[in-house]
Amino acid sequence: MRKNKIVRGTQIPKHIAMIMDGNGRWAKKRLLPRSVGHRNGMERMIGLMEHAFDLGVDYMTVYALSTENLKRPQDELNGLFNLIRNHFKEYMGRICARGVKLRILGDVSLLPDDVVQILRESEEETAHYDTGKGVNIALGYGARHEIVYAVNQAIERGEKVTQERFAELLYTGGLPDPDLIIRTGKEVRLSNFLLYQCAYSELYFSEKMFPEFSDKDLDRAIVEYSKRTRRFGKTDEQLTKN
Ligand code: FPP
Repeated sequence: MRKNKIVRGTQIPKHIAMIMDGNGRWAKKRLLPRSVGHRNGMERMIGLMEHAFDLGVDYMTVYALSTENLKRPQDELNGLFNLIRNHFKEYMGRICARGVKLRILGDVSLLPDDVVQILRESEEETAHYDTGKGVNIALGYGARHEIVYAVNQAIERGEKVTQERFAELLYTGGLPDPDLIIRTGKEVRLSNFLLYQCAYSELYFSEKMFPEFSDKDLDRAIVEYSKRTRRFGKTDEQLTKN
């Protein structure tokens, strides 16, 4: 297993979530079509996942397509769906070969049927994995959509829920909350991503466009995370006592 110097001695987050923003601007700056930006973004996504698991991260969750992104021009959406059609199994196969369990988060009924089939088949191949490592791809995902879905699940079952039970009804049910959420592409917002789960996540924003966010940039984010004091609402004194 490759260990990186920069992060030796630092606290590795168990669960990193990423808002992979800036593919379009990265491509535009190079006079390339947006689809090339997404293709490069997908390759970077896989590279970062490999690097994160090498470092000892347990879960990676990536925002690949939001419910709002589904309103984009059809040719851009087709480009993203074609990436899944042509490369998803091969690329995710590389990650899952490490015993990493794949989960798709979102309302897949919003996606084309053949794409859903690829996603479901890929998930099923890893359904029996129990290494405690997971990769979660948010597609057709919106946090408000997810919260309303969970509320309706509870109503349908006639359940009055606790916070813990409610968390189980979300798409992320059973996963730990993200310790660190990274957003690339200069914007400083969460854009409807993991709004229930992010209550105590550390946030990290990078000016880099996603295709240029390197393994070293991920190291930097982790080092910064490691320096933060996570008080979860407690005082410093309480933390040192425990
Ligand atoms: C937002 O940046 C990014 C997306 C809408 C797509 C993200 C997708 C990938 C990184 C790769 C694809 C992965 C899968 C699994 C299909 P943007 O393109 O809107 O960039 P911009 O803000 O510069 O326009």
